[in-house]
Amino acid sequence: MSGAATNYEVCIAGTGSYVPERVLSNEDLAKSVDTSDEWIFTRTGIRERRIAAEGEFTSHMASKAARKALEQAGLEASEIKLIIVATITPDTLTPATACYVQQQLGAMNAVAFDISAACSGFLYAMKICKRLIADGAFENALIIGAEKLSAFVNWEDRSTCVLFGDGAGAAVLRRSLPGEGEILATEMGTDGNLTHLLNIPGGGSACPITSENVGTHLATLAMQGKEVFKHAVNRMKEAAETVIRRANLQAEDIACVIPHQANLRIIDAIAERLSVPEGRVFVNLDKYGNTSAAAVAIALDEAARSGAFKRGDNIVLVVFGAGLTWAAAAVRW
Ligand code: UT7
Repeated sequence: MSGAATNYEVCIAGTGSYVPERVLSNEDLAKSVDTSDEWIFTRTGIRERRIAAEGEFTSHMASKAARKALEQAGLEASEIKLIIVATITPDTLTPATACYVQQQLGAMNAVAFDISAACSGFLYAMKICKRLIADGAFENALIIGAEKLSAFVNWEDRSTCVLFGDGAGAAVLRRSLPGEGEILATEMGTDGNLTHLLNIPGGGSACPITSENVGTHLATLAMQGKEVFKHAVNRMKEAAETVIRRANLQAEDIACVIPHQANLRIIDAIAERLSVPEGRVFVNLDKYGNTSAAAVAIALDEAARSGAFKRGDNIVLVVFGAGLTWAAAAVRW
């Protein structure tokens, strides 16, 4: 680490993603809870989601996504200096999932820790790492959004179990070389007055799981969907506008908006409010549902690899989640 006052530009040098093999379709779910493909698709835009295999943990998915990002960035695991895993479904409460990932990758020269900012975690990690690399504190960083939400869903509650899925996405950040892309602007926010709208109430120190409450689903996701929806639209719109303005861009300069993948109606509402030209918003939630911190990271990787934008294009990432938390980033690719 160096204490010198520097201000390096920071770029995304590689991305990667991984989703488990097992597909759980809306029709499959309709066999176990009172729901239908029609309800789920029209209300959310989701057709199916992926479910981790027995013995497949958040760290395993994170490492698989990370290896692809490292390969694209042309870096060996041993060259990575910092690993941040954004997750609300860690392998264990402690140590951090990032420590397991460090071991699995053999990234033994990296400092590794987790952050818990729900669906916003990947962009929180991006902002933190951009600053740390810009300051010269770290040469590069591996940021990962990874979730095994299937382990924290109440499979008897149709209002939540149809929404979530498992997966991981990763990105390697490093100092940019002349002519390379750059993370232009970042924004993040939190409203702790609204913790009750979306949470996992049990399993922490406030409400440990005991023999008395073990069957009550306290350690599963609980959400007041309608309320969350309203805040999601407003906060994501504001955060996206903030980074577009700070990056000195106009809506028409954005080649691709990559939003959190929770609900197609939320995505459509944001696209409309931002006045981004049609067809420039990336959506993959039909295949994966809401994978929380992993969602925007998987979407970024899939969008980049599918040619949704090219080198030199401006893109905007924007997310929202429990906390409530929100974040955005404007990036020149
Ligand atoms: O990732 C973090 C951020 N999360 C989000 O952004 C999620 C935001 N919220 C949402 O996406 C939506 O609020 C949901 C998709 C969760 C729910 O959609 P909604 O249009 O707000 O529906 P609702 O909760 O008001 O439920 C409407 C009806 C209810 O029945 P009644 O009371 O009108 O008779 C529900 O019981 O739909 C019923 N319902 C279902 N029916 C069939 C709820 N879940 C289901 C289901 N299948 N799976």
